[in-house]
Amino acid sequence: MKNIAVFTSGGDSPGMNACIRAVVRTCIYNDIKCTGIIQGYNGMIQGGENFVELKSRDVGNIIQRGGTILRSSRSKDFLTHEGRKKAFDNLTKHGVDGIVCIGGNGTFTGAEIFEREFGIPSIGAPGTIDNDLYGTDFTIGFDTAINTAVDAIDKIRDTADSHGRIFFIEVMGRNSGYIGLASGIASGAEMILLPEVKNDDQKLIEFFKTHRFSKKTFSIVVVAEGNYEGGATAIANLLKNNVPEFDSRVVILGHIQRGGSPTAYDRVLASRLGNAAVEALLNGERNKMAGLINNKVVLTPFSDAINKSKALNADLIKLIDIFNC
Ligand code: F6P
Repeated sequence: MKNIAVFTSGGDSPGMNACIRAVVRTCIYNDIKCTGIIQGYNGMIQGGENFVELKSRDVGNIIQRGGTILRSSRSKDFLTHEGRKKAFDNLTKHGVDGIVCIGGNGTFTGAEIFEREFGIPSIGAPGTIDNDLYGTDFTIGFDTAINTAVDAIDKIRDTADSHGRIFFIEVMGRNSGYIGLASGIASGAEMILLPEVKNDDQKLIEFFKTHRFSKKTFSIVVVAEGNYEGGATAIANLLKNNVPEFDSRVVILGHIQRGGSPTAYDRVLASRLGNAAVEALLNGERNKMAGLINNKVVLTPFSDAINKSKALNADLIKLIDIFNC
């Protein structure tokens, strides 16, 4: 292998830059050219200036930066065979013979189809704040995202306490409750609503009637965006309509969870997995994601990483009720 391309795709996550740096430096250490592709699959299809050679100094001073220096996209064109053919032509033109893709579910789905059609080997590094990939205990960016959420919730707690209000705080996670569960436990939320656990509206209303007036002066409810159609706003309305005496507010944390300087944990994770992805390609591996399980690097086929579900930790879910007695 002489030339490995690296790109980031899908929702960006803190630590992607640390991962790019690890890929570039591991390539150079092994005397391999590293080609950066700007703007993910879209850049691969468009070619031209989106292909840049990355040298060691190009990835200096980025380990601490959020976002991704290679930028990202959610590409509709790569879903078509025509788009993928253009991408293949551009990769061939630049002499790329292996790919490291940093992203989540959609990124690896694309990489797997692409390898089947055109035969260029890919290895993935899991970059998403959602932590929803099978084959790794943690994804790059998750730790930073939950720390950002907890920091925000702590601040909201101060004002919730001062005014005796209920705050419904929406965190990211369309299909996955990892961010909700971890940030909710870490911030001492009274209730955590997750996409994986269906709500019973009546029970919810009852809980608030009894809980609010008998025990607490204020409450924090963490709502993962995928829990309820309409998110935290809809849940707050449901409760307002049924218990009008509630003084409640809604906060949607949104994309602040995706930004910011990565935590030390995410930087180390990203560095290990970026390095492992290049080494896997050099060892002849393909179509796999490099993840960390029990602190060891493990390669998992893309098909498993994408299709198998990583269940939420049942012990953590149990804690929600235990701590709200
Ligand atoms: O997949 C990561 C994620 O941040 C999800 O948690 C969220 O639902 C989604 O991306 C938001 O995507 P976009 O930035 O495209 O609106």
